[in-house]
Amino acid sequence: MAGDGPPVVRTQLINLTLAADAGAVAELVAHRLLEALRSRGNLGLATGRTMLPVYSALVRLLRQLPPQERQTLLADWCSFNLDEYVGLGAEDSRSFAAFMQVQLGAPLQLPGGALRIPDGRARDPQMEALRYRADLESAGGLGLQLLGLGSNGHVGFNEPPCGPEMPCRALTLSRATREQNADAFGGNPDDVPDQAITLGTAEILAADSLLLVVTGAAKAEILRRTLQEPPCDAVPASWLQRHPRLEVVADREAAAALS
Ligand code: GLP
Repeated sequence: MAGDGPPVVRTQLINLTLAADAGAVAELVAHRLLEALRSRGNLGLATGRTMLPVYSALVRLLRQLPPQERQTLLADWCSFNLDEYVGLGAEDSRSFAAFMQVQLGAPLQLPGGALRIPDGRARDPQMEALRYRADLESAGGLGLQLLGLGSNGHVGFNEPPCGPEMPCRALTLSRATREQNADAFGGNPDDVPDQAITLGTAEILAADSLLLVVTGAAKAEILRRTLQEPPCDAVPASWLQRHPRLEVVADREAAAALS
């Protein structure tokens, strides 16, 4: 009989911007980041292959600005990265700190301390997570948070299962994530650190606005689950649906499974 069974749960309408390919996505996202820099909020930044063309496009955009505006924006830069591997410091080329330095710090000649990130070499990772969270709070929290999407639905390094109120913390990475990120470690998942420090879903959802960037056919199904199934702990990124200012930018391949 009609009306029997569980109620249909509709996800709220998502602000989705489609672009032809990863290059076009990067241009769009770089413009959003420039707007965020101009509005002077703290930027939340992410790592991963998805962000490589984004950061190249941002560097190009900033270099095209009149010198005075560029200098002001760079001098005032304050960003907080999502996560870092436990055990890796900035001197290790596989760390996220090194990734950020190569992609943004060096090309933009950012002042020391501008790109904040958890210290993977801290003696006590849980204490470092608390320190990082306090640092973010005293800086006034996040303005725009840039996000990639893990193949298993993680956001930052919030591995499934994960609810919407998990704080910044040290945690154990899943096998799936270590496999996904093995490329940067010579292809061997066993060489990927098994612990990381990540901002939690709590800090991410407290940002003023969220910008989720997803490219490539391999992410199509997890993007569909993220946006078009009811939020659940099995897909941590699905909690992003709860944010009133979530924008998703995807290329055609990543968006292929969306209805
Ligand atoms: C890592 C990061 C995530 C990122 C994900 C996606 O696991 N911790 O923040 O979203 O990678 O990576 P990629 O862009 O390489 O697919």
